[in-house]
Amino acid sequence: MQINWCSSVPATVPPPAARSARLRTLLRREGLSGILLSLPSKIATDSFGAARVMVLENKLTGPLGMIPAEPNLVIRQMDESDLQRFREPESFLKERRIADFAARLKSGRRCFLALAAGRACGYGWLSRQTEIDARCGIEILPGEDEGYIYDGFVFPAFRRRGVYARLLFARLDWLQREGCQRVYSIVFSNNVPALNAHWQAGFRPYGQMSYSKIFNLRWRRKYALCPPGAGSQ
Ligand SMILES: CC(C)(COP(=O)(O)OP(=O)(O)OC[C@H]1O[C@@H](n2cnc3c(N)ncnc32)[C@H](O)[C@@H]1OP(=O)(O)O)[C@@H](O)C(=O)NCCC(=O)NCCS
Repeated sequence: MQINWCSSVPATVPPPAARSARLRTLLRREGLSGILLSLPSKIATDSFGAARVMVLENKLTGPLGMIPAEPNLVIRQMDESDLQRFREPESFLKERRIADFAARLKSGRRCFLALAAGRACGYGWLSRQTEIDARCGIEILPGEDEGYIYDGFVFPAFRRRGVYARLLFARLDWLQREGCQRVYSIVFSNNVPALNAHWQAGFRPYGQMSYSKIFNLRWRRKYALCPPGAGSQ
C-alpha cells in the first residue's frame, strides 16, 4: 500500500450547503447557546495542533478469529434503503454525511452496517480503490491484493458491546473472501478504543505518521514504516 500526502477532498463529498442554510439548520438543531458553547473546543480540536496517526496492517494469514453472535445484533452490508435509518435520534447523522454515504454507495464503495433490534448502531466502510483521508491529508492507494478499511463508527448509546470489533471482523471476512492478502487501517494514536479493537482483530503496526496543522495547512509531515515485528502496545 502506498500513502501520499495530499490536500484534496474525497470525490464523493457533496459541496457544502450555502452558509446561511447551514447556519439555520445548526441553530434549529443546537440552539445559539449550544453553538457558542461547542465552538471553542470544536475550533481547538479540528483546526490546530499536532497529530500522530498509526497505519495498521492485518496480513489475513489463516482463518479469522470469531466473536460469538450476539442476540439482536445483525451485521450486514448496507444499501441505499438503509440511509434513512441515520435520521433516527440515536443514530443521527448530518444530511451532508448521509449524502456522502449515498454517493459512496453509488460509486461502488461498500459499507457494513450494525443493527441492534433493527436500529442502526454503527457502520464501517471498506475499499479496494484509492481513497482520500481528508482529516490526515493523505491519499491511500491499496495494491491489487490489498484492502483498506475506514470510517468506522459506533453511536454512543451502543458502545462497549463489541459492535466495532464485529464490524472489523465482518469487513476483514469480506475482503479475505475477495482474495485480499493484506488489509490496512488508519487510526489516531490517542484513540485507545479503536486501537484496542484493531489489536483484537489481529492488526499490527505498519507505519507511523505525524504532522502539525492549522486549519487545512499541514507541516512537519513525517511518515515512516515500523520495523518488522513491531509490537502492538
Ligand atoms: C472506537 C469505537 C468505534 C469503539 O466502538 P465500540 O463498539 O465501543 O468498541 P467495542 O465494544 O467493539 O470494543 C472493542 C475493544 O475496544 C476496547 N475499548 C472499547 N471502548 C473502550 C474505551 N472507552 N476505552 C478503552 N478501551 C475500549 C476494548 O478493549 C474492547 O474490548 P472489550 O469489550 O473486550 O473490553 C467507538 O468508540 C467510536 O465510534 N468512536 C468514535 C469514532 C472512532 O473513533 N472510530 C474509529 C476510527 S478508526
